[in-house]
Amino acid sequence: MSAATMRALVLESHGGLENLKLVKDRAIPTATAGFVVIRVKASSFNYHDIFTVRGMPGINVPLPIIIGLDMAGEIFAIGEGVEGWRKGDRVLVNPLNKQKGLLGEMMDGGMAEYCRVAADQLIRMPAGVSFEEAAALPAAYGTAHRMIVTHDTVKAGDRVLVLGASGGVGTCCVLLAKLAGAEVIACAGGESKMQRLRELGADHVIDYKKVNFSKWAVEKYGKPQRRSYEGGVDVVVNFTGGDTWVPSLRCLKRGGRVLVCGATAGFDPKEDLRYIWTFELRIVGSNSFYDEDLIGLLRLVAEKKLKPVIDKVLPLEQAADGLRLIEQREVLGKVVVTP
Ligand SMILES: NC(=O)c1ccc[n+]([C@@H]2O[C@H](COP(=O)([O-])OP(=O)(O)OC[C@H]3O[C@@H](n4cnc5c(N)ncnc54)[C@H](OP(=O)(O)O)[C@@H]3O)[C@@H](O)[C@H]2O)c1
Repeated sequence: MSAATMRALVLESHGGLENLKLVKDRAIPTATAGFVVIRVKASSFNYHDIFTVRGMPGINVPLPIIIGLDMAGEIFAIGEGVEGWRKGDRVLVNPLNKQKGLLGEMMDGGMAEYCRVAADQLIRMPAGVSFEEAAALPAAYGTAHRMIVTHDTVKAGDRVLVLGASGGVGTCCVLLAKLAGAEVIACAGGESKMQRLRELGADHVIDYKKVNFSKWAVEKYGKPQRRSYEGGVDVVVNFTGGDTWVPSLRCLKRGGRVLVCGATAGFDPKEDLRYIWTFELRIVGSNSFYDEDLIGLLRLVAEKKLKPVIDKVLPLEQAADGLRLIEQREVLGKVVVTP
């Protein structure tokens, strides 16, 4: 490898994960005006990367592209006009570029040794936070923080049922709801995931491949009170959509909230409006991760109040295998890559 080239995980055309190629001769980006180049120390995958590889309607990804939204590293080079930053500063990158859109989708992303990002995407990393922990945060934990903390949807004593609790967003929702003093019901598929969720502090775990989570919650939290609209859970975290939507509405009590940030299993589920008006439900949408969410999370990690759940740390050579594990639902928490 010459001095001016780097290794990177590149998507050449949409399709399956086999379309990702590890290249060794990608040019190291230069720091143009208003931008810096980061030496990437850690990056992490999200389900969003799978959508990017497959291709999403209405999103024209400029191919070939280096994938990966989330990254943390050190500043390697600084472009003209950038102030307040020095080479070697430890930074977390907000994946959203204000002009072009998401890194790893509209601009080259973090699954590489170096990445160019706009100076206003930089967030200073506090001492005591590792690059792996920081890189685990932006898209998944940032959005979970927005759903629960920024939108102030969970209070002490609430019963919070989390679907997909084993994933990136899901594990963070479990941790943040526990931190808020809630009683957490974590739903995931398979015994080993349930064991890990118990260890993370979930009060109840449900294997929703075997147990109907909605019926379970109604039975446990007051079937007799359903007539007065008081039996049920306070909050359902649902980024799955599909056939989990109506059952989520069905197990909420009056004034309950459904927190939504995605729809892994389908964005146009069957609806049942009767539950929404009868139980005076609120549907709370959350989209992405603003600097305030990422700064709040970094503070929680630095104060040792929150430890991001990292399943695997892989070298760039094995990065595509990590994304395959996410696609096959064999991950508990995040997959981090250290280029
Ligand atoms: N709007 C935003 O800004 C934003 C930000 C972040 C994420 N999201 C969305 O939130 C969702 C979760 O993202 P993530 O990165 O946390 O994903 P992830 O790490 O892959 O976790 C998703 C979890 O959902 C469960 N699941 C249920 N049905 C599934 C299905 N049909 N296919 C795959 N998994 C299924 C899986 O757990 P089990 O196998 O245990 O069921 C999996 O662990 C995605 O739809 C993503 O696009 C949106």
